[in-house]
Order: sequence, then structure tokens, then C-alpha cells
Amino acid sequence: MLKTPANIALSPDGSAVRIIDQTLLPGQLRFLQLREREQMVEAIKTLRVRGAPAIGIFAGYCVYVLAQSYGQEEFFPRLDSDCDRLVSCRPTAVNLARQVNRMRAAAHAMEGSPAGEIVQALGQQARAIHQEDIAMCLAIAQAGLDLLHPGDTVLTHCNAGPLATSEYGTGLGPLLLAAERGVDIKAFVDETRPLLQGARLTAWELTNAGVDCTLICDNMAALAMSQGKIQAVLAGCDRMAANGDAANKIGTSGAAIIAKHYGVPVYILLPSSTIDMDCPTGADIPIELRDGEEIRSLWYEKPMAPEQVKCWNPAFDVTDHTLITAIVTEKGVLRPPYDQALRALFGKGETR
Ligand code: MRU
Repeated sequence: MLKTPANIALSPDGSAVRIIDQTLLPGQLRFLQLREREQMVEAIKTLRVRGAPAIGIFAGYCVYVLAQSYGQEEFFPRLDSDCDRLVSCRPTAVNLARQVNRMRAAAHAMEGSPAGEIVQALGQQARAIHQEDIAMCLAIAQAGLDLLHPGDTVLTHCNAGPLATSEYGTGLGPLLLAAERGVDIKAFVDETRPLLQGARLTAWELTNAGVDCTLICDNMAALAMSQGKIQAVLAGCDRMAANGDAANKIGTSGAAIIAKHYGVPVYILLPSSTIDMDCPTGADIPIELRDGEEIRSLWYEKPMAPEQVKCWNPAFDVTDHTLITAIVTEKGVLRPPYDQALRALFGKGETR
């Protein structure tokens, strides 16, 4: 079984962040070493590095790498400016802002200390963010696998595997763990229009891991469910509101609506770092709009639509909490009512 190589790491001397360029997969496995802020920004915006937890982990390392060049006097103005720039790259996944702000807060807590000491603390903080995600993904994979039965086939949407997180991933975790343990769980993989993270990334990761998977176009899920071919929908999440509404890659809510019609359970798998208790409902989650060129021409040898046609290209949608059968976190499986279950998860009245 082939494991997905680490998608994000520090270079051996710690002076650069190394990523897999996900835009080249599955054709080419190429690693990039990034040292400059604008290279990092470009990598997030163009989805060379993507997936809610992964962009949080990446940004943590970016802050550490960038801070190595700050002088004592300019340290905090430069830190704040770099943090603001990184946070501005993508609006929907809460992990990006959360982890950048965690790094920023760790540095500000040391104001007055020598720059070298602050940088060292930032390195520890970035590594901690990464290690925490690895542990959370394993726990989520285990809890998700407990909800499935040998012989089941699940539907996946987008990519919530190792490339989008670390090690096991979230939405793909149960499948990867099942394969490791010799448990027969199969997958239908939505190609995930318009950016094809399902076809390019999920199909690659599952095939490498020896999971029996079948690629379908997003509009084939209803037929597959109507014929009893799918026993559960597994999806990740970019930001969950306090009432359980879940923003994820565009098309997730459509899959969930179809699943409800056919009585197929919908499981949203996510680390607690993706839950935003300051966001009351899905209507408060900012939805990223991307360039229409991604629909018109990006994945084709020649444009597939008239050059002048207008495109609307929202990257995410919100799955209403009433469509979600269970929320799977590293702290366990939550069942409705989700507003209460989520409040209990973080401690009564506490927000994060
Ligand atoms: O635009 P992307 O590719 O960053 O969107 C990613 C997704 O929607 C994932 O499903 C989500 O981040 C969860 S990843 C564990």
C-alpha cells in the first residue's frame, strides 16, 4: 500500500516550507520549497496547497519561516502585516485564520523578548499545530470507521484525505484505516466539479492506498443512491457554524439533499479546529468566489465554453444541519441537536 507523502513539512534546516504542488497531481508529484511571502500567498490562492486543516498547518509554518528574517525593531509590524496577508488569501476555511492568529498571539505574548527566542517559540507552535492535526485525524478516522459496516460503499466529495490535512485525513480517514486493517469498504468518488479535487486527488490517494474506488461525475450520485449502491456519504468541512451547518466544497449540500431523499446517512468528519462557535449559522460563513476561468477552460486542452460566457464560480456551499446524520470529531460522534452537542463539546457557554 502506498501512503500519500507528507503534503507539508519544514525543509531540513527550517528555512523554507516544503509542499506537494497539488495542482500537478496526479500526473506529477513535485515538491516546492517556499521562503517568500508572495510565493506562499500564491500557493494558497492557486490551491497548490489546499484543504481546510492543511492551509492552517501550512500558514503556521509560513509564519515561522517568515519571522526568521525580522529584525528586533521591525518584528511585530512585519509579523502583523504578514499574518494579515496570509489570512486574506481564502475566506471560507476557518483553520487559516485560526492558526495564523494562534501564531500571532504566541509571538505577541512574548513582546519584549529577543527576536531569536520568539522565532524559536513560533517554530514550536507551528510544529504543535501539525502534530495536533495528525492526532485528530487518526481519532476521526477511527470514530468514522466505527459508523460503517464491512461491505459498505461510501460516497466522497472533494478531497478530505492526507493531502487536505495530515496523515489519515478526515473524510477519507475511515477508508484508509479500513484498507490498512483489511476491512472491505469501497468508495464512489465524486469528481467534484469544477476543480476536480475528487478525480485528481481523492481517486489518487485511494488508489494508492488500495481502496476499491469508482470515479463518478457529481450528477451521477442520485442514480447510484437510487440503486442502493451507496450506504453513507462521507465529507470533510471547511467551517462548521455553532448550529452544525457545514460549509464544504461546492456540491456537498446537493449530495446531502439527495442522500436524505434516499435515506442514506450523511457524516461530516472534521477536527474541532474547523468548528467556529463565533459563527451562529451557515448564513454567516463567507463563501469564496473564484475565477470563472476555472469553469471555462482550466482543466481542458481547449476552452469548453464560449470565451465570453459569464460564469459564477462559488467554491463552497453550506449543508444544512438538518441533513447531517452525525458529526464526527476527534472528541467523538455528535448527534442532533447539534447546537447543544457543539456547546457541550467546547464547554458550556464557551466560544472559540
Ligand atoms: O477548495 P479546497 O480544495 O481547499 O476545498 C477543500 C474542501 O472542501 C475539503 O473537503 C475540506 O477542506 C475538508 S478537508 C479535510
